[in-house]
Amino acid sequence: MAGGHKSVRVPIPETRWPSRDEAARSLLYSPIRVGAVESRTRTWVPAMVPWRATDEGFVTPEVLEWYGRFADGKPGVLVVEATGIRDVPSGPLLRIGHDRFLPGLRDLVEVVRRRSEGETRLFIQCIDFLAVKRRPEKEKFIRRFLSLTPHHRAGLARLAGFERTAVSGTDDDVREAMLAISHTELLALLDPREVEDLEFGYRERVTDVHLPHVAELPRTLPPLFAAAARRARDAGFDGVELHFAHAYTMASFLSRTNTRADGYGGSPQGRVRLPLEVYGAARSSVGADFTLGCRYLGDEVIAGGSRLDDATFYGVEFARAGMDFLSISKGGKFDDAKQPHVGEAVYPYTGPSGHECMPTVRIDERGPFGRNLPLSAAIRAAVRTAGLATPVVGAGGINSFELAEAALRSGDCDFVAAARQSLADPDWWRKMEMGRGAEVRRCLFTNYCEGLDQKHVPVTCQLWDRDFTKSDTGRDSIKKTADGRRRLEPPPG
Ligand SMILES: Cc1cc2nc3c(=O)[nH]c(=O)nc-3n(C[C@H](O)[C@H](O)[C@H](O)COP(=O)(O)O)c2cc1C
Ligand code: SF4
Repeated sequence: MAGGHKSVRVPIPETRWPSRDEAARSLLYSPIRVGAVESRTRTWVPAMVPWRATDEGFVTPEVLEWYGRFADGKPGVLVVEATGIRDVPSGPLLRIGHDRFLPGLRDLVEVVRRRSEGETRLFIQCIDFLAVKRRPEKEKFIRRFLSLTPHHRAGLARLAGFERTAVSGTDDDVREAMLAISHTELLALLDPREVEDLEFGYRERVTDVHLPHVAELPRTLPPLFAAAARRARDAGFDGVELHFAHAYTMASFLSRTNTRADGYGGSPQGRVRLPLEVYGAARSSVGADFTLGCRYLGDEVIAGGSRLDDATFYGVEFARAGMDFLSISKGGKFDDAKQPHVGEAVYPYTGPSGHECMPTVRIDERGPFGRNLPLSAAIRAAVRTAGLATPVVGAGGINSFELAEAALRSGDCDFVAAARQSLADPDWWRKMEMGRGAEVRRCLFTNYCEGLDQKHVPVTCQLWDRDFTKSDTGRDSIKKTADGRRRLEPPPG
């Protein structure tokens, strides 16, 4: 199981790189249609959040450089990071919830067109997420956040020495008593959700239908996604990827843990209903001649969560509805995430499901290489059996021509996506195509980059800094992180 064999560190397998001729004859470097556009190759850089937007969600010069650098490598498709569809503050993540974001997004499109010489198709991932609060200090939680109920007094009444407070104390007395008892006694007084709020931080769920804004999600989300998709089209993107994966709102609707009783949960048909309605609304707003697909999970890898059989059902439904591509990911859930420190927020890539999402060389003896391809293979097979030709994108530990080409040849996927290998060396697609694979800077799959994402600081790759020399560090032309310790951009190709 994921995360079990921490001591095992599988080596990066040696690989044989193709000659230029071999690459030219390969499936990987052959064109494929994806909705309204043709991709020159079957290579794909999936969404990666670099933490380079302004706090208001605008494109910055650093965002432009990040995507420009990926465009230098000329992948067939490049997907811009998870971009928020609401007009609400969400930290240095890109946003597309208002027309004021359009000029920056247009610049981004322009940079990618120019640096890929028109060869890369540019999509943008559109995301909605629910509230997640930092883990509170115990005192603050008990004195300020906890809503006292008779249940708390009843529990306190069972503890020796607190009977009187429980019966006749003021609310403040009860709160102070709760701070005086042991932590174990306190946890026994709280209901499971309150324990989570205290130990992990408050986190909204799609099943919190007592909250009006959560109950209303099936009404509010379709127009929000539709408007975001329309803006993406207006900004000049070639397509939109609806983010239905990982720990966020739409994935939570698809999850088997979604027990909503309002027709939007409780059964496979109920769980897929809102994602289909979101797709339908977005399709109506962008029209038939614009590429629109989604990223979703082939397996949530959590107790009681959706598995591959759910995912194949969803895939056929999405394809039948007219989605132009299905990009398959795995895991990345809050449900099994590690407890955060006080003052920090829970991060969905810290537990076993998170490890499956961005597998490292320590995951187990199988290692990360092509690990998640059985999911895209099964979903693709189900979609083909249903008579549909929708392209399926596979990802997870893909780091060589041999692996990518074999995945395409055996029908595991129609596009091969590589996130971390592309981060380690954005030119790697071109190097392989030019017969210069021996020059590829190979990803170590140890997740230094993901650790930076977790801290919400600019993501970089540890390998970029290997080229720092003394004279390098002194040069102004090399952009560094605010602390001056890391190269902000990959070394030139
Ligand atoms: C720094 C970082 C940020 C990521 N951000 C996103 C994101 O915004 N949306 C998304 O769907 N996946 C995101 N991912 C997951 C990747 O797209 C990819 O699915 C995962 O890393 C596994 O592929 P790989 O083995 O090729 O890296 C991110 C991964 C990393 C390392
Ligand atoms: S930081 Fe490590 S895991 Fe991330 S891209 Fe670089 S080498 Fe790969």
